[in-house]
Amino acid sequence: MAGTNLAVNEDLKSDTDLQKENIMIQLDGVEKVYRTDRIETVALTNINLSVKEGEFISIMGPSGSGKSTLLNVIGLLDVPTAGSLELSGKPVTSYKDRHLARIRNEEIGFIFQTFHLINDLSVVDNVEIPLLYRKMSNSERRKRALRALDRVGLNSRVHHFPSQLSGGQQQRVAIARAIAGNPRVLLADEPTGNLDSQMGDEILEILKDLNREEKTTVVMVTHDPRQAEKTERIVRLFDGRQVN
Ligand SMILES: Nc1ncnc2c1ncn2[C@@H]1O[C@H](COP(=O)(O)OP(=O)(O)O)[C@@H](O)[C@H]1O
Ligand SMILES: [Mg+2]
Repeated sequence: MAGTNLAVNEDLKSDTDLQKENIMIQLDGVEKVYRTDRIETVALTNINLSVKEGEFISIMGPSGSGKSTLLNVIGLLDVPTAGSLELSGKPVTSYKDRHLARIRNEEIGFIFQTFHLINDLSVVDNVEIPLLYRKMSNSERRKRALRALDRVGLNSRVHHFPSQLSGGQQQRVAIARAIAGNPRVLLADEPTGNLDSQMGDEILEILKDLNREEKTTVVMVTHDPRQAEKTERIVRLFDGRQVN
């Protein structure tokens, strides 16, 4: 009888492990408090969030509700003051800076509202930037950057400069830069916030394609309910708390 029980327990365990393997981002009790000399701002309170590998979710909430802070914590740009973060089952909250920098560079791609391109570098040079931190030849780096630009439909603009492109095209360059290193997670902070609705739709289509075809997990902050509805799930923040 004891043997039978053991077998059952093992089955249960492997089920849990299987579920865990499919979780790309896991936050438990995450809190973020910014402290300056005089004031203390609680940006996040008790955030518990699981994002499955290959999921595409959006984060909504009023200005100041902690959306960017949450994205920065997930993207290892900011450290929570309490709670834990696991990426792909790895307890990154306990990792040292150098290790975090490597994970950030190799596994995470960022896209921002204002694109953050370098104006005196050409499009292809911008896309190569994150690859400079990797061990690879110049020709391999160029090949990957061109492939990423092809992926976002910009192969006819590789030698242009950012100022010669429309906002939508600049955001496509930023997406190419974010995906050039094949990240498993894409974090987008209001990626359509500076674009008209048609360009915004194009950006969403690209993100959806990447999510569907490369199985990239995507977390997108947005103010636009129309764009949020295109994602699989909406997480809402208010005053640093999850409200759903
Ligand atoms: N580096 C910082 N230092 C101090 N306070 C900050 C910092 N970053 C954000 N905050 C504060 O944390 C709260 C959440 O900010 P943020 O995450 O940028 O919100 P959102 O992206 O939803 O507009 C705000 O009250 C903001 O002022
Ligand atoms: Mg923000």
